[in-house]
Amino acid sequence: MWIRKNRGWELKDSALTPEHVFRNRRRFLMGAAGAAFAPMLLACEKKAAAESDMTPDPSAGLYPVKRNEKYTIDRDLTAEGDATTYNNYYEFGTSKDISAAAQALPIRPWAITIDGLVDKPQTIDFDDLLKQMALEERNYRHRCVEAWSMAVPWSGFPLADLVKLAQPQSGAKFLRFESFMNAEVAPGQDDPIYPWPYIEGLTLAEATNELAFVVTGIYGKALPKQNGAPFRIALPWKYGFKSAKGIQRITFTDEQPVGLWQALQSSEYGFYANVNPAFSHPRWSQESERVLGSGERVPTQLFNGYGEYVAGLYPDLNDRNFFY
Ligand code: MTE
Repeated sequence: MWIRKNRGWELKDSALTPEHVFRNRRRFLMGAAGAAFAPMLLACEKKAAAESDMTPDPSAGLYPVKRNEKYTIDRDLTAEGDATTYNNYYEFGTSKDISAAAQALPIRPWAITIDGLVDKPQTIDFDDLLKQMALEERNYRHRCVEAWSMAVPWSGFPLADLVKLAQPQSGAKFLRFESFMNAEVAPGQDDPIYPWPYIEGLTLAEATNELAFVVTGIYGKALPKQNGAPFRIALPWKYGFKSAKGIQRITFTDEQPVGLWQALQSSEYGFYANVNPAFSHPRWSQESERVLGSGERVPTQLFNGYGEYVAGLYPDLNDRNFFY
């Protein structure tokens, strides 16, 4: 994604003792004073995080759910251990190794607010929402803009069902997804270079496409925190950054939302971000992808292989605006 470089006027991190260093131990460890103890205490933190993860998830009994055989894929599923330990979740850091840190996020109670241009604005408890929805499992490909990919069995329900619940007004053209904001537990949110919270958006037509999926589980279990629990979306024809994790608010609007990556680097990350091997990222080719687990390189497909479902949404396949 976007690589942080200090600009001339910025002090190096090592020269700073920011206010947040005092706020909790994790961030204290990142300060120079804590460096000597960091490995030992981080190990304790990881253990504590793993233990907190053993608290039973109230939705655990709902899974596994019945697989919808319509959504199958042409490659082996990624091993669960790979998909749940190689993550992008910048709220918890810029590395892929954030699964332990993500356990600090409290995910109960979790309220989801639906607002904006809808007839039924509401704030609904996540577990109450689950009770209203028919859950199913779908095997989807996932293609990150960084040119790696995986194939996973997500559990959840069509995003179109949530749109139905909200009853959009005629002026609603877009959905804006806003992820949680909690810098006390998510140290990445203390980095002011990123315009938090994580925002993403879709057109209403994209959100009601049958592929757009609200994800609440994976591999026949409740979704782990590092993969976006309790509520994320999966949009398999788009680059992975469009599939926001840890969502708490969905706003129906007449304005095209500006996502976090687009706000940060609009020349590299656009609104549509549909997968297309013909349009390179400004810093790398999108012609092929590294398969998580095997490391094999395979050719990337237009719309990540989902053209039959979504190509009709985009009038001009030669228009770069749709493909970055
Ligand atoms: N959502 C939030 N809130 N924060 C993030 O950093 N990263 C995105 C997307 N959703 C991201 C996010 C990117 S770049 C990818 S590839 C996927 O989440 C990764 O999902 P995974 O960790 O479940 O594989």
